Amino acid sequence: MPHAGDYAVNAETGRFAKRSFGPAPGGEPTYLYALKNANGIEVAISNYGATIVSLKVPDRSGDFDDVVLGYSNLSDYLSHKNQYLGATIGRYANRIARGRFTLNGRDHRVPINNGPNALHGGKKGFDKRLWSEEPATESLGRELKLHYASRDGEEGFPGNLDVEVSFRLSDQNELSIDYGATTDQDTVLNLTNHAYFNLAGEGSGDILGHQVTLFASRFTPIDETLIPTGEIGVVRDTPFDFRQATAIGEHIEEPVEQLQWARGYDHNFVLDSDGRLALAARVAEPSSGRVLEVLTTEPGIQFYSGNFLDGGTTGKKRKTYGFRSGFSLETQHFPDSPNQPGFPSTVLKPGQRFQSTTVYRFSIE
Ligand code: GLA
Repeated sequence: MPHAGDYAVNAETGRFAKRSFGPAPGGEPTYLYALKNANGIEVAISNYGATIVSLKVPDRSGDFDDVVLGYSNLSDYLSHKNQYLGATIGRYANRIARGRFTLNGRDHRVPINNGPNALHGGKKGFDKRLWSEEPATESLGRELKLHYASRDGEEGFPGNLDVEVSFRLSDQNELSIDYGATTDQDTVLNLTNHAYFNLAGEGSGDILGHQVTLFASRFTPIDETLIPTGEIGVVRDTPFDFRQATAIGEHIEEPVEQLQWARGYDHNFVLDSDGRLALAARVAEPSSGRVLEVLTTEPGIQFYSGNFLDGGTTGKKRKTYGFRSGFSLETQHFPDSPNQPGFPSTVLKPGQRFQSTTVYRFSIE
């Protein structure tokens, strides 16, 4: 069984490598694309779900390891549908309460797939769709552009939506993701990437020792079904205060409802930034020295501590992905915004172009 890494190794610096990733459920071919920078950092992305499959970065001794959870072949992605490892999430990232929302006086229903709610775009979100490759216009070989046409009514969402996601790898060790979208009817939209990181290397145990800083003084508290209550809470004097670097495990077991309902962290943090590309999070892993910084133009970030990973899945190195063996930092608009008039709007209208950028920057300390 080839490892995802074996595909990526075929990328030469500044060149784009492409190979088969196996047939999709409808028999269509899928591909794995690899980008590599001058420092040897390498990312592999599949057009199935516009999914980051592997991402190899050096530790403080220069040893490379794959720091994202994922599978070595498409059939494993198809049989483990509910983890969203590395996938592009849409049309609506995170939850819509009871799968219902009203837009311009019309009711819309998204299929329920998570308790009483719709999660990550319904039963067949963008993570389970085939994206097509667009010719890269610039920096050929360092950029992969994928396109998906989501039709009017798909998973209950109104409007034909054209979505483009482009992945770019720079020699400054930044993987940038640019999202763009247009619609022919008013619709709601919330796009993110659901990479799960383990900076000690995927499959190397839990992430509780990672030191996290979040540039957020507020967060959106949830109810027991993980839907925001609509309040904006302050993090000060709570286990949600990550304004100074704090180990994920430090407060995760505190007996507060917010943590118990989510089995750990699974909350949207309200970023202190103003809509311009700015630092949202910094994560350092003490044993390897690897550091991940996340920058975004989005107003929120979902910090998820991998509480639904349960050892039932086996990743690229044939190691199981146990409880909290990866964390996600999903840049986004706030969950359930279509039902929360007080949250920043997620409505996209014809004639507007949705644009959003997230950067994962790697370094060592
Ligand atoms: C998001 C959600 C979590 C969980 C994961 C996928 O982070 O907020 O509750 O569903 O996706 O398992």
